[in-house]
Amino acid sequence: MLLFFTLFIAAYLLGSIPFGLVICRASGNPDPREGGSGNIGATNVARQAGKPAGVATLILDICKGFLPTYAAFQYLPEWQAALVGVAAFTGHIWPLYLRFKGGKGVATALGVYLGYSPLALAGILAMLIWALLRYEYMSVGSLAGAFSAPVMLALAGESISLILASIVMAFLMAWRHKDNIARLKAGQEHPINFRKN
Ligand code: G3P
Repeated sequence: MLLFFTLFIAAYLLGSIPFGLVICRASGNPDPREGGSGNIGATNVARQAGKPAGVATLILDICKGFLPTYAAFQYLPEWQAALVGVAAFTGHIWPLYLRFKGGKGVATALGVYLGYSPLALAGILAMLIWALLRYEYMSVGSLAGAFSAPVMLALAGESISLILASIVMAFLMAWRHKDNIARLKAGQEHPINFRKN
C-alpha cells in the first residue's frame, strides 16, 4: 500500500505541473489564462503562443499522464494503477501549484489511456480526430474522445477498473468543458479552422 500511495501522490504532483503556463512564460508569451478560452491546455496555448508552443504543451501534458500510469502498471495491481492514472489527471484539472484552478484534462487523459491500453487509445484518437475534422471544434473532438474511452477500453478487453476510471474522467472532462458547451449552444465556440491555420 505504501508504494500505491507514493505513486498516487507523485502522479498528482506531476499532473499538477501546468506545462502550458510554463511554456508560455519561458517563451515570453502572455499567460494563456488571460486570452482565448482562458485554458492552460494545448489548444489555447497554440491560440495564444503559436503552434510549436501548443505542440510542446500537448506532448508534455500527455507525458505527465502516461509516465506515472505506466510506472504503476509495472508494480501495482490493475485497479491501483487505474487510480494512479486518475491522480495524474486530477492533478491537471485541480493543480496544487495553481490553487486548484487547472485545465480540462484532455491531453493528460490521452497519456493515461496510453498507459491503460495503446490499442484503446488508437480507437479513442480515431474518434477524437473524426469529430474534430467533422465539426472543427477541439472541444467536440475532446468530448467525443473522452466518451468513447470506456467503449474502446471494453472493446480492447480491458478490466472493469480501467473502464470505470475512464467513465469518471469522461464526466470530469464534460464538467470542465461546461463553458465550451455553453459556447457551442450559443454558436460562439472558437473553431479550429484547418483551411486557415
Ligand atoms: O483540450 C481542451 C479543448 O477540448 C478545448 O480547449 O481552449 O478551446 O477551451 P479550449
